[in-house]
Amino acid sequence: MPNLLFYINGRRVEIGQPDPTTLLVDWLRSDEIGLTGTKLSCGEGGCGACTVMLSRWDPIKKKVDETAINSCLRPLASIDGAMITTTEGIGSTRDKLDPVQFRLAAFNGSQCGYCSPGFVMNMFTFLRNNPKPVQQEIEDLFDGHICRCTGFRPILEGMRSFAVDFKKNDKYHTNHRCRPGIEVEQHLGPQPSLTFPDELKSYKPSLHEWTGRGYEWFAPATLAEAQGIKATHGGNSRNVKLVVGNTSIGIYKAPEYDPHVLIDIAQLTELLGFSTDDAGVNIGAAESLSNVVDELQKLIATKPKGKTKGFVAFRKHLLDVANLQVRNIGSIGGNVMMTRAQAETAQPFPSDVYMVLATLGASITIASREGNTTYPIMELPAPSHLPGDAIAQTIHLPYSN
Ligand code: FES
Ligand code: FES
Repeated sequence: MPNLLFYINGRRVEIGQPDPTTLLVDWLRSDEIGLTGTKLSCGEGGCGACTVMLSRWDPIKKKVDETAINSCLRPLASIDGAMITTTEGIGSTRDKLDPVQFRLAAFNGSQCGYCSPGFVMNMFTFLRNNPKPVQQEIEDLFDGHICRCTGFRPILEGMRSFAVDFKKNDKYHTNHRCRPGIEVEQHLGPQPSLTFPDELKSYKPSLHEWTGRGYEWFAPATLAEAQGIKATHGGNSRNVKLVVGNTSIGIYKAPEYDPHVLIDIAQLTELLGFSTDDAGVNIGAAESLSNVVDELQKLIATKPKGKTKGFVAFRKHLLDVANLQVRNIGSIGGNVMMTRAQAETAQPFPSDVYMVLATLGASITIASREGNTTYPIMELPAPSHLPGDAIAQTIHLPYSN
């Protein structure tokens, strides 16, 4: 069986049998690895202290995708073929600070520092993809962060100082002095550790199976493989979980919900991508909520206004779901399927994504080797009424009329 392969701050790592339950944050902070710059606080995707940058090669766009993620939600096994960058990988006071680290400190945005690496890594990732942001874009980034001691104003002021429309608040600055020792901003070129390795550009997913402590982790390379594994390892029982962003562990935890068969479907190309037809847009079920937001924006900008009223409403609503880091990895299909999987339990999932999709007349296609079936969202049965190999493949969102 292939090893788990990834890069961390430029260092190549291979692990023979990763424990399927080890989370990235715990691995980073372990005695063996010692990257304790990344903090663990809520462990539920709610505070942003554990934010790191995840980079993956996108073979279709032929570019590296860089995303800010919560390492407290992320299974270590799921980062196969990816590169992870933590605050230690972008700069330090021992060497040179990255400009984001510097500004946070210089604007007095850090006291105990527990939240700081998370703010830094989110902003750092954003700037790599948006080198000329405006203040509002920066302000919109931080709905997934909590600072318990500094107060948000100086943090935001430091971050907004990167905006092209930033005007320094002079009154504020005469009352707040930069900390001694960091008067000079140290601009850096790209760190060597931030170069995406060629090895990962040609990395092809292959069927992986790792076991540990009674849990099994499967990483199929195709939808057909995923369906076969699901059908033969418990089908739609609550012992089987399909994993994309794994954000559900922020809500549903052991011992109440403790599936032992985990099937990673995040990289399956059959579940990814967007396409339009005469009636609307097809959304791959494993696409993240953030990707849906971006795609809807493109359609809103290019299609006639009357057709995209529903898209405008849905996009606005999506931006209120959870927070940026959760939207960056949580999938639209996972959100919808969780409502059905939890519907008959003591802890139903109150998804407002599902509610808006239903209001807009969306439908969902469930893939099975027996044949695909498309249901209006409101008529999607509970998993116990679907074939054992059923996997949500696409969601269709119609144009307004
Ligand atoms: Fe709070 Fe991860 S520790 S979001
Ligand atoms: Fe202490 Fe933010 S600096 S929690």
